[in-house]
Amino acid sequence: MNKLPDFPWDRLEPYKERALAHPDGIVDLSVGTPVDPVPQIVQDALTGAANSPGYPLTHGTKALREAAAGWLRRRHGVTVEQQDVLPLIGSKEFVAWLPTYLGAKRVVFPELAYPTYDVGARLAGAVATASDSTLAAGPEHVDLIWVNSPGNPTGRVLPAEHLRKVVSWARERGTVVASDECYIELGWEEEPISVLHPDVCGGSHEGLLAVHSLSKRSNLAGYRAGFVTGDPVLVKRLLETRKHAGMIMPAPVQAAMAAALGDDVHADRQRERYGARRAVLRPALERAGWNIDHSTAGLYFWASNGQNAWDQVAKLSEIGILVAPGEFYGSAGGRHIRIAVTATDERIGAAVARLQ
Ligand SMILES: Cc1ncc(COP(=O)(O)O)c(C=O)c1O
Repeated sequence: MNKLPDFPWDRLEPYKERALAHPDGIVDLSVGTPVDPVPQIVQDALTGAANSPGYPLTHGTKALREAAAGWLRRRHGVTVEQQDVLPLIGSKEFVAWLPTYLGAKRVVFPELAYPTYDVGARLAGAVATASDSTLAAGPEHVDLIWVNSPGNPTGRVLPAEHLRKVVSWARERGTVVASDECYIELGWEEEPISVLHPDVCGGSHEGLLAVHSLSKRSNLAGYRAGFVTGDPVLVKRLLETRKHAGMIMPAPVQAAMAAALGDDVHADRQRERYGARRAVLRPALERAGWNIDHSTAGLYFWASNGQNAWDQVAKLSEIGILVAPGEFYGSAGGRHIRIAVTATDERIGAAVARLQ
């Protein structure tokens, strides 16, 4: 295992203290943690399954797998068999362990990225390359390439054509493509597409994995609920390993997740909430001197006023707003900040008022 990075969030502490000192309290837009309620139908499903004394299946219930396959078909034009769905205890654990499951020696992930792709490569003792260009991978064999659309932190959407190129590059080399699609339902100015969509993969899921999370769609970050699907051979291998390792989603959460995937009303409602928060926060940031780059989908504004990221963090902390410096996501983020829209309407309103 390679050395793990220091946990960067500790470096935000002094700015958090400053923001907390604001007389009207902090507006914490530094993390993407949901703040709106867990939908009632999901809570009911969880409590309805509270009496679950036996060991659940690592593969999950058939009802859960069918709900996941149904959601992908209904909402994303993707067809998978229910047996090719594998529940995850939140998608983060899978992101962190996939290179180990695959025995990967070389892993490529986006230049600006969710830090856990790098952590996963380190846990596996693999060589990691942070690049958006497959050319940077060089001539050596790459075992795994991550794509993330809509992306964290940039909110960038990869068009079908870009994803097609990654898939064909990977197929020529026997590289696995893992597509982290945890923000797929949050397209604003652009419509995200799954790597498993026929327009991207040509109808075959060979060598492809799509990773999904219920955290943002259904406010289930606290339940730890996600799933992976794609190449039937790969999924079967992953299931075997996860069975041995005890990576089992609790039965009540399986029931809750099946209910969440079967219902679009709550997800549309949640989308509207985020859309309304974006609509007021974006112009306020722009009026206050920030440019918003990418950010056509997902839960974040990727913003810059041209200064060093930490100066921007400091400036906003003076008015009680906490954001994340772009360098948390890669050295290319040194002049950007990431601003999450995961705060209540009241707190977003407070941020807008303070930016005037
Ligand atoms: C890109 C990306 N992938 C995965 C995750 C993990 O989500 P979870 O473990 O809640 O499913 C996050 C969380 O913010 C993320 O931003």
